Amino acid sequence: MSLRQTLSEFYPPKPTFTEQDLEDLAGKTYLITGGTSGIGFILTKILYSKNAKVYITSRSAASGEKAISEIKESNKSSRGELRYLVMDLGDLQTIVPAVKSFLAQETLLHTVWFNAGVMKAPSGSMTKQGYELHWGTNVVGHFVMNKLLMPILLATAQVAPKGSVRVVWVSSDGHNFLSPKGDGIDWQDIATLKSTGWKGEKGPMTYYGQSKAGNVLLAMELAKRYGNQDIVGVALNPGHLKTNLQRHSTSSMSNKFGGLVLHDPSLGALTELYAGFSKTIGLDNNGAYIIPWGRLGKIRQDIEAGFHDRGTGKRLWDILEKETEQYT
Ligand SMILES: NC(=O)c1ccc[n+]([C@@H]2O[C@H](COP(=O)([O-])OP(=O)(O)OC[C@H]3O[C@@H](n4cnc5c(N)ncnc54)[C@H](OP(=O)(O)O)[C@@H]3O)[C@@H](O)[C@H]2O)c1
Repeated sequence: MSLRQTLSEFYPPKPTFTEQDLEDLAGKTYLITGGTSGIGFILTKILYSKNAKVYITSRSAASGEKAISEIKESNKSSRGELRYLVMDLGDLQTIVPAVKSFLAQETLLHTVWFNAGVMKAPSGSMTKQGYELHWGTNVVGHFVMNKLLMPILLATAQVAPKGSVRVVWVSSDGHNFLSPKGDGIDWQDIATLKSTGWKGEKGPMTYYGQSKAGNVLLAMELAKRYGNQDIVGVALNPGHLKTNLQRHSTSSMSNKFGGLVLHDPSLGALTELYAGFSKTIGLDNNGAYIIPWGRLGKIRQDIEAGFHDRGTGKRLWDILEKETEQYT
């Protein structure tokens, strides 16, 4: 990844793809994890304004209802629909009933954004099943959802325009700055659960970066596995944005100086919109990485080399598949 790209991710050029470029989405169904806050909330608003049916995930019925009523209040003329699914990505047992409820209501899913995420959670934080919290939430929970949703995505790809059915993995340039050198993943580390004495030695931001490298690898591996059945995998860095993601941050430095580089979250929603709809992305460049506010970019070189030369995408996919077998 060039210094030029890195700098342009901090201070991106103006977006070239906005809601004005989006067709009417009536009759289409979308799913966004973490639609209650930040970028996911704004993306939901945009799709709803184009008359789509949008499902968001929320950790409680109250937060799902609140987000939906705010969006409906802000757009009274939409002919779209908004629904929520209660789940906690940090508890795999909650994902199965939520996805089942979605599948009971829908026969098509045009694109899913794995957008929910947690950053800088206190050292030693765990998911219900004993995964390091960033890894468990950002990677393992979304992997389980992806597996459960794949049949409906494949069915949709048979009837939708080629290259339009997408699985969007929201990563971060943290995959570049923060993840372990080499594969982006410390394989020993991700195999270590709480029950075996794991204490979170690496520090929250390394774990965040590692989880975002995992998101990138899963997008590329998904493209490889399902591209021939017309499913597109995309990963992205939405940009540096003022959202609730910094909720765990206690660093006075980052709080003080964050304002210098944190942009309006609506711009990050445009990065996600581009990943979901731009025609510059498709089956020909399946597994693309998108940078703010909607441009093709490159991932870190060693992670890219690991994917192509060392089969790291397959390795990760296979590990997760085995570990989560009972939930999928
Ligand atoms: N903001 C940035 O500068 C930035 C930069 C790079 C990448 N990103 C990525 O962008 C994505 C969206 O983040 P954001 O900035 O919009 O942050 P945000 O405002 O904190 O939104 C995160 C969303 O994820 C949900 N979430 C967190 N933990 C969850 C869990 N265990 N189960 C289910 N949902 C959970 C949150 O739900 P609750 O409301 O219930 O907490 C919220 O809806 C994340 O993947 C993040 O890593 C953001």
